[in-house]
Amino acid sequence: MCGIVGAVAQRDVVDILVEGLRRLEYRGYDSAGVAVVNSSGELTRLRRLGKVKELADAVAAAPVTGGTGIAHTRWATHGEPSERNAHPHVSSNITVVHNGIIENHAPLREALQAKGYVFTSDTDTEVIAHLVEEELKSAASLLAAVQKSVKQLHGAYGTVLMDKTDASRVVVARSGSPLVIGLGIGENFIASDQLALLPVTRRFIFLEEGDVAEITRHSVRIFDSNGNAIEREVHESNVSYDAGDKGQYRHFMLKEIYEQPNAINNTLEGRLSSDSVLDETFGNGAAELFKKVKHVQIVACGTSYHSGMVARYWLESLGGISCNVEIASEFRYRKSFVQPNSLLVSISQSGETADTLAALRLAKEAGYVGSLTICNVAGSSLVRESDLAFMTRAGAEIGVASTKAFTTQLVGLAMLTLAIGKYNGLTAAQQRELTEALKSLPGKLEQALTLAPQIEALAEEFADKHHALFLGRGDQYPIAMEGALKLKEISYIHAEAYAAGELKHGPLALIDAQMPIIVVAPNNDLLEKLKSNVEEVRARGGILYVFADADAKFQSDATMRVINVPHVADILAPIVYTLPLQLLSYYVAIIKGTDVDQPRNLAKSVTVE
Ligand code: M6R
Repeated sequence: MCGIVGAVAQRDVVDILVEGLRRLEYRGYDSAGVAVVNSSGELTRLRRLGKVKELADAVAAAPVTGGTGIAHTRWATHGEPSERNAHPHVSSNITVVHNGIIENHAPLREALQAKGYVFTSDTDTEVIAHLVEEELKSAASLLAAVQKSVKQLHGAYGTVLMDKTDASRVVVARSGSPLVIGLGIGENFIASDQLALLPVTRRFIFLEEGDVAEITRHSVRIFDSNGNAIEREVHESNVSYDAGDKGQYRHFMLKEIYEQPNAINNTLEGRLSSDSVLDETFGNGAAELFKKVKHVQIVACGTSYHSGMVARYWLESLGGISCNVEIASEFRYRKSFVQPNSLLVSISQSGETADTLAALRLAKEAGYVGSLTICNVAGSSLVRESDLAFMTRAGAEIGVASTKAFTTQLVGLAMLTLAIGKYNGLTAAQQRELTEALKSLPGKLEQALTLAPQIEALAEEFADKHHALFLGRGDQYPIAMEGALKLKEISYIHAEAYAAGELKHGPLALIDAQMPIIVVAPNNDLLEKLKSNVEEVRARGGILYVFADADAKFQSDATMRVINVPHVADILAPIVYTLPLQLLSYYVAIIKGTDVDQPRNLAKSVTVE
């Protein structure tokens, strides 16, 4: 989704801004732009439809310089993707970039047009530029004009503005869309994500909801939503960023698939004793809170929702408590019943997903006993606003299709099951068994990755297919859903997932030789049931691709291809079976020739609802 980078410095900042945009590319976007003001007060703006590379080429062809600047990658919401709609937008002296959506843009546009302002784009963002220009007529400073303007904006915004008549500062405002100030020496920066600024600083201030700030080379002044001057903590970042380097891999997604054993090692490190999960794993006060918890409500979106669905099986069968899982965009808009002693668990790779964040904020008012987030980005909004946070330590995930973030979330949720289960009947022997299983996981994942050549060959058979059906039972049903999501998002093949027992209630009608059926079949207590479902498909001429434990005794033949997955403890099976499905979607996408890391229309971080 949209990305923002800005700088106030003595040196030329164009390269810093363009590099910052490149680092935000993974978020998904359709156009990019940059504007800088030089010491003579001249504004130069360049915008391009398409990739940041197009913008970088344009900058190289017509060199621009300036010490104060703002830049943006746009993911279209209002107005088609085009150069005209790309940010920055300009109103006479004022230049603006904006993430989010201004919901009342239509009446504001009408009022500003009545005052003579001429709009040159179809965006909601352009109203900010004209509104601030208008307010500046009666305000003492750009800061004051922005403070007056944001009171008139409804919706979500992270916005950065500059005035070409005073290039010594930029003014920024945050409401619903994250912004982080980067502190340099004699220069300061702003971005929607710290990753953009890591080449220039590691010292960051995360703005809070409603904050407006004025940033110069030597100062940062922050005001809260009531206009009071306020100090915000400075954080030293230890985030590493190697997105510029795909190493030996063709795509970030493939690199991230192969990083999973190591990512999971990091996720486990220092969090397990020989026979249980350590109390500190979920932060200060976690043990006290978990003792009280009698119900867990999980909220999440997309892939993170699928990890929540797996956790429901674990928490109810092993953790000894009831659990409900809901898509955050549904949860936030319905009146739900809060069970006594409920813990709200949000799950998110980015920690900035608008619907998940809104669900957390809603829950805070609703009487939950506490909140925990399972998240991959330190300092993100979900982490800062939750009572407890479990950091998944997957490292920066650049591919839009979530892979290592998902499996590390599952590891976090397995540990949560242990941590809560010990107060709800999970025996010491069970805890030890689960702990040992978790420790063996990285090795099992290494083994699963050796299936890649087989899966690559298998992917050829999907090249001419338009649909696919994924089947699983129990905690493998959400894994089937995740497999279907991966395939559709990067190969654009329409894929559905069903709990295998549902086949005869409708989807059997779809079965023919053109519909590949992918089955996840570990050797668990549901295997015999699943085998019956497989036979139902075979009897109707379906072609099956079965990912199974060798002990499950499936045989390859003309209508069934069997891929043997390493044998694992039941609790680990959802994690291990995920990897072959990730590889399948990757190799099918390669054959289809799609943009694997940045699939069409999708964004990495969905900061608008
Ligand atoms: O950052 P989050 O985990 O909150 O993101 C939620 C979804 O947008 C995300 O998982 C999405 O479904 C992925 N593209 C799936 O690969």
